[in-house]
Amino acid sequence: MTEFEIDDDLYADLEELDKQHANLFRIFNMLKCTIEDKDDDSLFVIIEELKNYMRYHFSAEEKMLEKFSYEALQQHRKEHEAFTDKMGDFNFDLVTGDPDLGKNMLDYLKNWLQNHINKSDRKAFKSISIPHN
Ligand SMILES: [Fe+2]
Ligand SMILES: [Fe+2]
Repeated sequence: MTEFEIDDDLYADLEELDKQHANLFRIFNMLKCTIEDKDDDSLFVIIEELKNYMRYHFSAEEKMLEKFSYEALQQHRKEHEAFTDKMGDFNFDLVTGDPDLGKNMLDYLKNWLQNHINKSDRKAFKSISIPHN
């Protein structure tokens, strides 16, 4: 395999992961509207969508980081697991009718976008040393 082929391949992977991040922003904005509208039925649907989507995204991202032997993969995986656990908590709050659920979810997701996607993911992508913007 030539070097060019490796770069090309990886670039395609990162582009796909970036698209997935953009999709997460879309879900986040949907969630915001749902909470503003106090639409509990839609909230249930969005939590399900978020859980499924993130399972898919984490698996794709971890596979890519594994493929390029990212040295902090274990720590990165732990952050993903913490997110998944938190979604389980939110699901419970939904079932028990916690009135603060919407606000808590928005706060958590906002923090995730800032700290995981903008920091941990960015750091990981950079460290596998691919030109990426
Ligand atoms: Fe990510
Ligand atoms: Fe990640």
